[in-house]
Order: sequence, then C-alpha cells, then structure tokens
Amino acid sequence: MTDYNPIIVALDVSSIDEAVSLVSALKPHVGAFKVGLELFNAVGTGIFQAVRDQVGDDVSIFYDAKFHDIPNTVAGAIRAANQHNVWMVNVHATGGLAMMKAAVAAAHEAAAPPLVIAVTVLTSIDENVLNGELGVSRTPEQQVVALAKLAQQAGCDGVVASPRETAAIRAACGPDFLIITPGVRPTGASLDDQKRVMTPSEAIKQGASYLVVGRPITAATDPAAAAVAILAEIQAG
Ligand code: C5P
Repeated sequence: MTDYNPIIVALDVSSIDEAVSLVSALKPHVGAFKVGLELFNAVGTGIFQAVRDQVGDDVSIFYDAKFHDIPNTVAGAIRAANQHNVWMVNVHATGGLAMMKAAVAAAHEAAAPPLVIAVTVLTSIDENVLNGELGVSRTPEQQVVALAKLAQQAGCDGVVASPRETAAIRAACGPDFLIITPGVRPTGASLDDQKRVMTPSEAIKQGASYLVVGRPITAATDPAAAAVAILAEIQAG
C-alpha cells in the first residue's frame, strides 16, 4: 500500500465474479481486501490470482485463514500460503507461543513476508463462554491483553480484537503493534448481527490500526461511495 488507508473490506461473497467486481469498484478507496473462510472455501486458492488478474498486482490482500494447529502444521500451512503473496495472514493466538513463533518463522521464509496477525478472543465469545465452557478464569479483556502480549513476544505483527479492547492492547503493546478491528459501524448504519460496535472514527481514536468493514460497504447500493463516506468520517474525527 502506498497511502495509508485503514479500511480493510471483508469480501464475504461466494464467487470470484462478485469478489472481483467489489475489488474493481473499491480498489481506489480502501487499503486492503479480506479473503475469509467463506470465499476461500467457495472458490479455492485461485481467488488470489483471480483478483490480481482482474485488478493488477498492487492490491493488498489479508488472508483471514485463522490457522490453529500444532506448530509444524501451521508452519507448513503458512509456507504454502506464502506462494499467494498476500499482505497479511492470521493464526489463533490460543495456539500458543511455539505455534505463533513457527508461523512467524515460516512467513519470513517468503521473499516478501506477509504480516502475521494473531486472533485473540473471538467477539462471539463472552465472559460466560470463556469462563464456563472454556475454563478460562480471566475476563475477556484480561485474556485479550494476555494473548496480545504473547503474540507480540512470538514476533507477530499485531492482533485482531474488538474495538472494546483496543485501548487496553494499545497501552500494553505499544504504538507499533498492529490492531485490526472488526465490528465497526458508521453512525446511523444497520448493526446487522454485530452487537459490540463502535464507529470507525471511535475505533481509530481507541488506537485501531485497521478496520475490517463488511456489509456497511459491500451491501451498500454504491459500495465506493460508502467507502469514501467512511474514510471521510475517520478523517473528520
Ligand atoms: O459485515 P461486517 O462488517 O459485520 O463484517 C465483519 C467482518 O469481520 C466479517 O468478515 C467477520 O467474519 C469479521 N469478524 C468479525 N468479528 C470477529 C472477527 C472477524 O466480525 N471477531
């Protein structure tokens, strides 16, 4: 990316055509595109080249793989993903220090290593699930901050976390650690199924580095205009 633009658009669609048409319309207005489990499993690894064939090589792609396995397997998966030349890839921090270190080492074997990001606690997991089902006695915020520090120790470039925990991570991990924040909604937008939301400018003020935005852009009648409006809201804030 040349100019810093904090918007990462979630390409939550199930065909190459839909993905390419969104990327073509949005490329001048956003920082990057997220290929997640839905699109990846619908289309396969060809999605990365298909996007580049249509819109050029300079598009930044975040492969939201959420790898979580033993260190050797995750390292192998990252090594295989290196061939897709993505800008950013992620793993689950709960895979532990050795797994995250193995992911970072495998990423660094690439000529242009992807940023390695760790998912802390999924926003669908609340205190009841964390304590009652998973047997973790910390609060979600304590667990998020502990996992963010572990990810930093492993050499990860940053974490995915809800806007609610962003300020605590920023305080614990310093100014250079990337914080990727989903669950943002522009003022007045539909919440869809997101519950713990903040506006884009609030999330940036809390210390977020990048915002993952899906439906407020992809489901808009004019996705490019929606992206431009979100960027304007951030800049005005
Ligand atoms: O459409 P919406 O803006 O809600 O999309 C948010 C994107 O961020 C989706 O791709 C979703 O999977 C992802 N995400 C999330 N909450 C998390 C992690 C990822 O909403 N905790």
